[in-house]
Amino acid sequence: MLLSRNSPSFVFLFFLLRYCTSTSIITLDKPLRDGSVLVSAEQNFALGFFSPKDSSKRYVGIWYNKVSVQTIVWVANRDHPLTNTSGVLKLDKTGALFLYDSQKPGVFLWSTNITNSSSVAQSNYSAELLDSGNFILHGDVNNKDVLWQSSDFPSDALISDMKIGVDRRSGLNRFLTSWKSPDNPGSGSYTLMIDANGSVPQLFLYRNWEPVWRGGPWNGVGWSGVPEMAVLGSARFIFNVSYVDNAEEVYLVDYLRNKSVISRMIVNESTGTLQRLTWQEGNNKWVNFYSAPKDICDYFGHCGAFGVCNIYNVGEYECKCLPGFEPKAPRDWYLRDGSQGCVLKQEGRICGNGEGFVKLERMKLPDTSNARRDLSLGMKACEDLCLKNCLCMGYSAAEVSDGGSNGCITWYDKLVDLREFSSGGQDFYVRVNSFELANYSKKERSYGYIKVMVPLLSAALLILLLLPYCNIDGEDLEFDEIMTSTVDVKFHSLSTIIAATENFSNANKVGEGGFGSVYKGKLHNGQDIAVKRLSNASGQGTEEFRNEVTLIARLQHRNLVRLLGYCMQNEEKMLIYEYLPNKGLDGFLFDDQKRCMLDWKRRFDIAVGIARGMVYLHHDSRLRIIHRDLKASNVLLDAQLNPKISDFGMARIFGSDQIEETTRRVVGTYGYMSPEYAMEGLFSIKSDVFSFGILLLEIIMGRKNSSYYAENSVNMIGHVWGLWEESRVMDIVDHESLGESHQHDSEIFRCIHIGLLCVQESAAARPSMSEVVFMLCNEINLPLPDQAAFIFRTSDGGITNTRSSSVGVTSVNDVTISTVQGR
Ligand SMILES: *[C@@H]1O[C@H](CO)[C@@H](O)[C@H](O)[C@H]1NC(C)=O
Ligand SMILES: *[C@@H]1O[C@H](CO)[C@@H](O)[C@H](O)[C@H]1NC(C)=O
Ligand SMILES: *[C@@H]1O[C@H](CO)[C@@H](O)[C@H](O)[C@H]1NC(C)=O
Ligand SMILES: *[C@@H]1O[C@H](CO)[C@@H](O)[C@H](O)[C@H]1NC(C)=O
Ligand SMILES: *[C@@H]1O[C@H](CO)[C@@H](O)[C@H](O)[C@H]1NC(C)=O
Ligand SMILES: *[C@@H]1O[C@H](CO)[C@@H](O)[C@H](O)[C@H]1NC(C)=O
Ligand SMILES: *[C@@H]1O[C@H](CO)[C@@H](O)[C@H](O)[C@H]1NC(C)=O
Ligand SMILES: *[C@@H]1O[C@H](CO)[C@@H](O)[C@H](O)[C@H]1NC(C)=O
Ligand SMILES: *[C@@H]1O[C@H](CO)[C@@H](O)[C@H](O)[C@H]1NC(C)=O
Ligand SMILES: *[C@@H]1O[C@H](CO)[C@@H](O)[C@H](O)[C@H]1NC(C)=O
Ligand SMILES: *[C@@H]1O[C@H](CO)[C@@H](O)[C@H](O)[C@H]1NC(C)=O
Ligand SMILES: *[C@@H]1O[C@H](CO)[C@@H](O)[C@H](O)[C@H]1NC(C)=O
Repeated sequence: MLLSRNSPSFVFLFFLLRYCTSTSIITLDKPLRDGSVLVSAEQNFALGFFSPKDSSKRYVGIWYNKVSVQTIVWVANRDHPLTNTSGVLKLDKTGALFLYDSQKPGVFLWSTNITNSSSVAQSNYSAELLDSGNFILHGDVNNKDVLWQSSDFPSDALISDMKIGVDRRSGLNRFLTSWKSPDNPGSGSYTLMIDANGSVPQLFLYRNWEPVWRGGPWNGVGWSGVPEMAVLGSARFIFNVSYVDNAEEVYLVDYLRNKSVISRMIVNESTGTLQRLTWQEGNNKWVNFYSAPKDICDYFGHCGAFGVCNIYNVGEYECKCLPGFEPKAPRDWYLRDGSQGCVLKQEGRICGNGEGFVKLERMKLPDTSNARRDLSLGMKACEDLCLKNCLCMGYSAAEVSDGGSNGCITWYDKLVDLREFSSGGQDFYVRVNSFELANYSKKERSYGYIKVMVPLLSAALLILLLLPYCNIDGEDLEFDEIMTSTVDVKFHSLSTIIAATENFSNANKVGEGGFGSVYKGKLHNGQDIAVKRLSNASGQGTEEFRNEVTLIARLQHRNLVRLLGYCMQNEEKMLIYEYLPNKGLDGFLFDDQKRCMLDWKRRFDIAVGIARGMVYLHHDSRLRIIHRDLKASNVLLDAQLNPKISDFGMARIFGSDQIEETTRRVVGTYGYMSPEYAMEGLFSIKSDVFSFGILLLEIIMGRKNSSYYAENSVNMIGHVWGLWEESRVMDIVDHESLGESHQHDSEIFRCIHIGLLCVQESAAARPSMSEVVFMLCNEINLPLPDQAAFIFRTSDGGITNTRSSSVGVTSVNDVTISTVQGR
């Protein structure tokens, strides 16, 4: 029988079920079989067997009974699905709930697993679904003892009245874990958890247990990293938040103020964010009210140790060093890579030498993992405590409310993940030496980065921040960029594209890549276009896709392929680009006939053009794009053989997870991946520099020496490095097809040298793209390249490098390695 959950007969069925049988309860003699459901007393929630969208597997879960889109808030057997509908959920005499396949009664897919039921062994057990969405196990129906409850084992959703946090007595830790994907409720990679290990508990969003975002400590009115909570006041929210931190427990509960509002918080795998979603009956959809991380400064430790992030540094780099500190790697810092953070200035002694504190306003407090809290101290005592200990780097009040403040937090070791807000936030006092102190005293001991911030701007931002809370109709906002968008990027209908590409005929197909297929087309007006039909991998919704395309269309540079428009219809998503008849650089470089068309002058101009395009992406454009998949086939040549980079911004369209997967799938792209990316999944602008280095060497060699890959031995860089060591690196030059004498040898040699600088093992040692352009175009002295990053293919198709285990590395390579390290 097929019934939609909001159809009248369905409601009637529940009415019958509710009033004819006690359907919110499982008892010893009444197990729950696939096909029947429990419904809570007020019919807010239902519990039963379900299959996620696009999956045939069966799970036991709890969902909103009054929401017409299947919305699961809890899953029992998330990592152990049933394969068919013969599942049974049964209560046994020991007071445990078991889920099993009725064909295999001895094998449990899931159980409540309580060990201490002896005390109630004589009781009448029952399991009941409550109206709060909590599923509880009683020893006796009349006695409201709770032996087990589903809310102690959350899935990806936090609903009203439900706790996340730690029970310090039992060690029970309740945290949210994302679903693997919309069709798989298995445990994904993101978790939202209160870390109660330190002296000051903090809210964290982790990805594979690495911090992604930090809500920070609770300051009495809200999380330190969510200033809206304090700025707007709790009364503005649809929920009131209760935070408890005592010797027994640390937890957070959101109570919805209006019981007829349906809202939940989830950890979303596809966006990598924490989201508050609210159901809109009228629109029949969930609307995103809040999500985190939401800007670049929200990402954990974006500016490194002792750095401060501020997105409102209009027209400037968002990272600054704390007073008394300076960038650790000034070159990277200048080029807007703040990951190395800041160090104490040379004259920065801050122990027993007349030092003091500078007050920073509107701050997100630094990571408190190494901090200590004393709620009994006032601010003066706090300052004294910090001053007395030379290791103490700063302090702040532990709690703020109604303008007052009390308690004390003192920080030791590194100060990480600070940011400055435009409103809200807290005062943080950083330790400085007497010099700095004198300097800042002149300026009233206050250190604002945005002293001259236009009041109008901050008012406008505040209004925008208010919107999602005050107005239930508020859509997800991306105000910083979209507001000023002026580029017209055209929407094309699917029928236009079908007409232009002759219904995606094979004859019109000009390429196939990790992101989908590319078709040539001709619009009515005769304009040639290239249509990139995106593969299914993009997990984006329509609105986000449109936003991203609009942003990316605004990137314009002579060495970037122009994005003309997009198409979105049914499940299809397409990007429309200018058509470049000469196609990819790979088609020339790696083709024995066409290669001769690229003499050295052309190749050099192509290399410089690519580098310029990359500088624009990395440093000059407002979006600061990391390409992540720079390679010969992603550089297109126009009719004059000018290079144009394509596929930039795909990370934004696909999300970084998917792009990594996509990149890994594409055969051959391995060769362009930097070791830190290949090994550890770390990606920075320096990984793009690495890919550029490989590309530059390929341009010089005029071929992809595929035998390197085939022989399961040293790869191309290893080969070039070996020759460099032997001082005969010019052997790699493609003199044959360059078709000329050695008149350009010194320029070619410079280019090889620059290529080797780009592929150095240490990302920090690699130049930035703007330095590369400078080095290419000016005959300056170049530093000697350090150890190149070797990547070997292993026999199983994996990769390994010199630092990791040497599986698949031949002894020949060991020799190579030792010579390198001996330098
Ligand atoms: C359901 O699947 C199990 C294996 O998971 C199998 O043993 C059982 O026979 C199946 N039942 C039916 C009715 O197909
Ligand atoms: C029950 O919990 C214990 C300890 O948490 C664990 O070791 C055991 O594997 C669990 N058993 C089942 C059936 O989940
Ligand atoms: C088991 O439950 C009883 C009664 O609820 C309690 O007194 C006892 O401490 C519990 N034992 C354990 C090991 O948790
Ligand atoms: C079980 O419940 C029934 C009805 O609520 C009651 O009559 C009976 O005494 C209970 N048995 C025990 C052992 O508590
Ligand atoms: C807290 O400490 C325990 C034990 O040292 C560790 O297993 C756990 O991962 C820590 N939790 C966090 C969130 O760091
Ligand atoms: C939250 O609001 C509800 C309804 O207004 C109220 O019953 C509850 O006590 C409040 N909780 C807290 C912690 O303020
Ligand atoms: C609660 O929400 C419902 C639906 O959104 C609305 O009709 C009702 O007026 C609200 N009640 C209060 C007290 O705000
Ligand atoms: C995760 O976010 C995406 C994009 O906003 C959305 O389409 C999707 O429904 C979200 N997932 C869940 C479980 O709500
Ligand atoms: C004092 O402040 C000025 C301006 O903020 C800065 O340029 C200078 O370096 C500071 N002096 C010291 C000793 O830090
Ligand atoms: C395009 O091709 C698909 C299948 O290849 C076919 O189902 C569809 O009818 C065609 N559309 C047009 C307009 O020719
Ligand atoms: C996308 O996936 C769906 C089902 O997973 C499939 O039916 C459809 O053909 C796919 N579309 C493309 C363009 O590959
Ligand atoms: C290709 O690599 C092999 C070593 O693997 C080397 O002997 C050969 O000279 C290389 N060819 C070119 C053109 O560099």
